[in-house]
Amino acid sequence: MKTYFIDEQQQLPLVIEPDGDKSAEGLKEYIRKNHKELLDKMYKHGAILFRGFDISSPKVFEEISVLIDPNLKNDYLGTSPRDKVAGTDYVFSASELPGFYPIPQHCEMSYMKNKPIKLFFYCNVEPEYGGETPICNFRKVYNELDSEVKREFEKRGLKLIRNYSAPGKRSKFNLWELKSWPDIFHTTDKEEVEKQFRKYEVDFAWKENGDLRLTHTNDAVVEHPITREKVWFNHTQVFNIDAASIEYEFIHQRQKRLKTFMMKWFLNVATKLKKRGTSPEEQSMNMLFADGTEIPNKYIRNIEETIWKNMVIFPWKKNDLLAIDNLGTSHGRLPYEGKRQIMVCWSEE
Ligand SMILES: [Fe+2]
Repeated sequence: MKTYFIDEQQQLPLVIEPDGDKSAEGLKEYIRKNHKELLDKMYKHGAILFRGFDISSPKVFEEISVLIDPNLKNDYLGTSPRDKVAGTDYVFSASELPGFYPIPQHCEMSYMKNKPIKLFFYCNVEPEYGGETPICNFRKVYNELDSEVKREFEKRGLKLIRNYSAPGKRSKFNLWELKSWPDIFHTTDKEEVEKQFRKYEVDFAWKENGDLRLTHTNDAVVEHPITREKVWFNHTQVFNIDAASIEYEFIHQRQKRLKTFMMKWFLNVATKLKKRGTSPEEQSMNMLFADGTEIPNKYIRNIEETIWKNMVIFPWKKNDLLAIDNLGTSHGRLPYEGKRQIMVCWSEE
């Protein structure tokens, strides 16, 4: 096998390519024989990209992922709309969110009690324009954050808020609006939904108007269970009300199109209006400090700057399989146009 880094400076991701046999069976054999060494490399560098192999279907993708980690899971209580891929037990579409939506860097489900320990992405159809899945070393992000930001987040912890509207009450004019709660939890039975929250230990409250609020209180920084390094392990840059507008500034710097300029401008204005009309706790999604106080805008900017400085962006190639150590390395999605089919599966402890 040939190995190299896509980004030498970040040492991320480690690419493994065939130097002869590129069959899926050959790759499976290689993984079986070198399993421990592969896991050590994944923890050290954060991600491994298997490129150039005949990973010819979602089913083969699943078979290879399960060899790397046998504990694949298929319960999903996150916020991104996902569809299960036919013919597999554990593979989902990565996100059904519209292509212009930014998905900022995050470690998958960092706010849940049971979080994925490894993530596997698969490129079934290469994006026509954009649509990369950038990754970032969140241990490095922690180290390079402004010391005041680091101190405040470590001391104060975080509260994630998600407000889901009641059936039929969803606004068409709120960009941040999540699905209504029956749409996301696939039932209108409140008791059934509550059972799921109890199982996953999610705090919930029904509001008088039928809306549902979920909250998660977490540390902002955790220790990596294997390498013992501190990791920036939270969704502030995804859920904080100021984050999307700042994220689009960076997206525009990269993609430099009229569309991204318009989105940047629009999000800037929309965020200001949204904050004026709705309290921090009533936003569709928001990240606050654990005591309910707002996170200063300059902190969000410092986090975004540090992430974008360390992010590795590379185009997908058909049949790529990207295996990520979710406890130390984040992923996201850049806006795209045209066809794109990226699939995902994940493992838990
Ligand atoms: Fe994700």
